[in-house]
Amino acid sequence: MKALMIGAGGIAHQHLKALKTLGTEIYGIYDLDPAKAAALAAQYGTQAFSEIGDKLQNADVIFLLTPPSTRLAYLRQIAGKCRNVFMEKPLAITVEDALEMEKLEQEYDMNCMVGFTQRFREGYRLLKGLLDRGELGEIVQTVVVRIGPGPGSDGNLASSWRTDPDYVCGMSIESLSHDIDFVQSLAGEIVSVRGRTKGTVAQLAQFDNNSDAVLSFASGAIGSITCSWSSALAYTMKGIIGTRGTAFLTGDDIWDNTRLVFAGLDGSRKTIELSDIFNEGEGYLNEDRYFLTCIEKGQKPVCGIRTGRRVLEISRKILETAAEDAMI
Ligand SMILES: NC(=O)c1ccc[n+]([C@@H]2O[C@H](COP(=O)([O-])OP(=O)(O)OC[C@H]3O[C@@H](n4cnc5c(N)ncnc54)[C@H](O)[C@@H]3O)[C@@H](O)[C@H]2O)c1
Repeated sequence: MKALMIGAGGIAHQHLKALKTLGTEIYGIYDLDPAKAAALAAQYGTQAFSEIGDKLQNADVIFLLTPPSTRLAYLRQIAGKCRNVFMEKPLAITVEDALEMEKLEQEYDMNCMVGFTQRFREGYRLLKGLLDRGELGEIVQTVVVRIGPGPGSDGNLASSWRTDPDYVCGMSIESLSHDIDFVQSLAGEIVSVRGRTKGTVAQLAQFDNNSDAVLSFASGAIGSITCSWSSALAYTMKGIIGTRGTAFLTGDDIWDNTRLVFAGLDGSRKTIELSDIFNEGEGYLNEDRYFLTCIEKGQKPVCGIRTGRRVLEISRKILETAAEDAMI
């Protein structure tokens, strides 16, 4: 299989590493910044493209790894030229873009996957295993706490597209997309949400870097997500309180899962030490292997454009309800 990479930033490096391990041929790399494409192409022994219009139809799979506001324009170009597209999360920053992407996927019979990497990590697999085996019982509540210093917290707004006024979408869309997908993939559809957000970067009022959301699921379960990109202390705790047992993944960094703790209401206890460090773990390798296998088998991935659109709708609702007052 021949892969074309669009976007040569941090996440492109992770996918290239994974694809190399999987033995996938890297056809070439394109980035708006030619120097970035050239540097990554040299590192991974492939070519950098200065434009891609005539390259799209030569690829078996395209990895769309640019900031989310650019995704729809690329999908429009790709539609009809290459069927298989892996695109990073969040799917887009407006629901209108997401709906058009969903239409393109159907119209051109495309096979798209959105990069909800959390599903492909070791900690997630163990947590889901407990749930699937009934050790947690029915889900009563999902809990996510993920805090740490993030983009903009060092005062440098030029270091990331996340704090660039031309690209910005805020944490509730960008980072919470992972958490929303995480809880929905375990507990089913979220049917209502209320949010509270706060930005601490004075020069970028539209940049929310603290977000709290209260969730209700179709099953009747409830949940909450508390995230911060402006916390000096970094910590992760996410998991499930069930009718039979409770299990949490914890870690001393914003994305690390270094421990799974389980306690059953029958008194059983289990602690599993994990080496599931986000950027060093096998999440990207597992998700890329999964997508390539889906392509080979002609199967639709579990997290496609519809999933990405539903997740974005929830992020948007968090922002919308955050602006509402509920005075006591
Ligand atoms: N799944 C994950 O765990 C994970 C982790 C990190 C980032 N991401 C996602 O990956 C995407 C990229 O993030 P990143 O961290 O790699 O950012 P980055 O800033 O490191 O890289 C983005 C790259 O896109 C390029 N670019 C910008 N606009 C472009 C355009 N119109 N055409 C071509 N190239 C363009 C930039 O020059 C840059 O090289 C985001 O959507 C982000 O949310 C996902």
